[in-house]
Amino acid sequence: MAVLEYDLEKLESLARKNLSAKRFYHTQCVVRRAEELAERYGCDIGKARVAGWLHDICKELPRGEQLQWLTKFGIILDSVQLGQPKTWHGMAACGYMKLELGIDDPEILHAVRYHTTACGEMTVFDEVIYLADLTSAERDYPDIDTMRKLADTATGPAMKYAMCYALGDLVIREQGISRDSFEAYNYYLRY
Ligand SMILES: [Fe+2]
Ligand SMILES: [Fe+2]
Repeated sequence: MAVLEYDLEKLESLARKNLSAKRFYHTQCVVRRAEELAERYGCDIGKARVAGWLHDICKELPRGEQLQWLTKFGIILDSVQLGQPKTWHGMAACGYMKLELGIDDPEILHAVRYHTTACGEMTVFDEVIYLADLTSAERDYPDIDTMRKLADTATGPAMKYAMCYALGDLVIREQGISRDSFEAYNYYLRY
């Protein structure tokens, strides 16, 4: 399906219907930030809007349903991923987008799939969606100003900063590190 055919108003109302008010507001902010970053880094703004509206579309589904969607998409979780249900919703959204909405654009599916864990060799579009989610207007965490400035300057160093923070946090909390996040960390160390 060509991006021009996506009905953004339909996607917005789908997000409104599927998400709590708080997460819908987050989603609205991510769409706006994704538009901004896509323009800055020369990505397709239409695709960025689609990814933005749908990135968290499965986040409030029961875990069993999230598992069903990602399985239908052909994903098999390893033991680390199985222990991290908060990372399932991006993979589940791929199944939902493809099978329920007929969205089969590989760029959009890939960016949504990895918007939580990141992965090695991300495209600029993947980075835009990842950073839009991390630096949307309503986000508030101690490093947000630094993170926003980095995201506005260059995606590579911003991703490196994000990965160092994310993996450091997992280590401190004695949580497993998925292969995708581990590969992302190694990949972004070059910046
Ligand atoms: Fe998410
Ligand atoms: Fe999000």
